[in-house]
Amino acid sequence: MKAGANAHHDTGLHRLLDRAGVYDALQNLLLRKGSRERYVGEFIRPFPGCRILDIGCGPAGMLAYLPPSIGQYVGFDMNPAYIEAARRRWGSRGTFYCRKVDAAALPAGDAYDIVLANGIVHHLEDAEALRLFDIAYRALRPGGRLLTYDNVYIESQHWFARWLIGRDRGKAVRTREAYEALARSRFTRIESTILYDTLRVPYTILVMCGTRTGE
Ligand SMILES: C[S@@+](CC[C@H](N)C(=O)[O-])C[C@H]1O[C@@H](n2cnc3c(N)ncnc32)[C@H](O)[C@@H]1O
Repeated sequence: MKAGANAHHDTGLHRLLDRAGVYDALQNLLLRKGSRERYVGEFIRPFPGCRILDIGCGPAGMLAYLPPSIGQYVGFDMNPAYIEAARRRWGSRGTFYCRKVDAAALPAGDAYDIVLANGIVHHLEDAEALRLFDIAYRALRPGGRLLTYDNVYIESQHWFARWLIGRDRGKAVRTREAYEALARSRFTRIESTILYDTLRVPYTILVMCGTRTGE
């Protein structure tokens, strides 16, 4: 991908998705029942008092699946309509900032147990994605974990999954190897899994877990 290219497409029909209500409705329509709960239980694994930073949080729909016992939730996103909707919906359950992914996006002095970057890396060209992994790494306490999920190109992919991925607002959908190479710029320990059943239609999602090793 060209340096400086913008990998987030929000013209034409995609512009509708910038509205939090439309985005949430599409998620509810497409997501298979129980898939968010599974992602939280198997991958995020929140624990009482844990501190969570959500990069590209959108309208913060993930909060609906995180237990009230989490200690802190901070989300940021570049879309002001999403951040406004998150503040309206979640009030004091979270702190929300309207920011793009850059070094200044990181709230100073905080050390998080878990950083989420759900569905955002495929919206970022390589330079910005590398910044995201750097921000996530620096935000974590040693032993803390980064979780990402993104649509992914695989060999022998169902034609409908490939067709749908081609219509995503995020124009930087990659292969598993390409996502992992970006994550490895900062995280030496990466585990990844491909999920085939998150949506009600054929689709392929890559979940990556990067751990900040102790130092
Ligand atoms: C597919 S949505 C995922 C939202 C949410 N994490 C979820 O799982 O429902 C991708 C999000 O990334 C945000 N985004 C894209 N590029 C961004 C950037 N450069 N900085 C901050 N947010 C960005 C978009 O506004 C959008 O909310």
